Amino acid sequence: MGKVTVITSGKGGTGKSTVTAGLGAALVRRGNRVLIIDCDAGMRGIDLMLGVSGELVFDIADIVSGNCPPASAIYPCKTVPELFVLPAPSDVRNEISPYIMKQLAAVLKKYYDHILIDCPAGIGIGTEAAAAPADRAVLVANTEPLTVRGCDKVRRMLADLRIQEIRLVINRFNERNFRKLAAFEDLDAVIDKAGARLLGIVPEDSAAVGRAQKGLPIEGRYKAVYALDRIAARLDGTEVPLEL
Ligand SMILES: Nc1ncnc2c1ncn2[C@@H]1O[C@H](COP(=O)(O)OP(=O)(O)O)[C@@H](O)[C@H]1O
Ligand SMILES: [Mg+2]
Repeated sequence: MGKVTVITSGKGGTGKSTVTAGLGAALVRRGNRVLIIDCDAGMRGIDLMLGVSGELVFDIADIVSGNCPPASAIYPCKTVPELFVLPAPSDVRNEISPYIMKQLAAVLKKYYDHILIDCPAGIGIGTEAAAAPADRAVLVANTEPLTVRGCDKVRRMLADLRIQEIRLVINRFNERNFRKLAAFEDLDAVIDKAGARLLGIVPEDSAAVGRAQKGLPIEGRYKAVYALDRIAARLDGTEVPLEL
């Protein structure tokens, strides 16, 4: 039975979708079969990042309305075998309810080792639906105060949904800029403010994530890829020392 992880943040643009796509590929490198469910109705992007956007016919809304069986709306990523995507509805009006998401994940988790759920921004019903079936959550923050505050808010919402395991990924980390901005004394202060245990730090790395923008897998000899590999190992239950 697969483990369901929601990737969320509260604030938009922190790199949720990038981290989701990157972790999906990293978990596959560890021998897992992985499904990414895109829950960002109206603003879906995982299909683009995994290079399948040209093939989309069905999405989650089609499964829910009975237009197709679940398997017809799940697309294999051609460049990463064992990585699959279930696209979000292209129309925000077709947003899925928390109850339906729970039912869907309960069926799908039988077929995958991991299900990663990519969230919309904000703490509205879309995020609640994305989080509803999750066994655990990964909060993605940058080191700007606004994104850290967003984490604190979404963490409270996840706690209300009784998600007990909530971990933090600091994304787009750049030591020089972090010191220059001086909004926080150190990374410990960021972690304290976000209110979740650190799972890992992904550096600012436009070369690595630029691949996703072109529909290529986030892989290769990049520092962000090494960081994502370490985070994937921790998600798989392997102890890897933190790089703080
Ligand atoms: N580690 C990183 N290094 C450099 N750029 C990044 C990194 N992570 C994300 N980005 C960039 O940040 C922007 C927002 O990322 P995205 O994953 O779409 O965020 P979200 O899903 O939270 O809205 C994109 O342009 C993406 O390429
Ligand atoms: Mg996104």
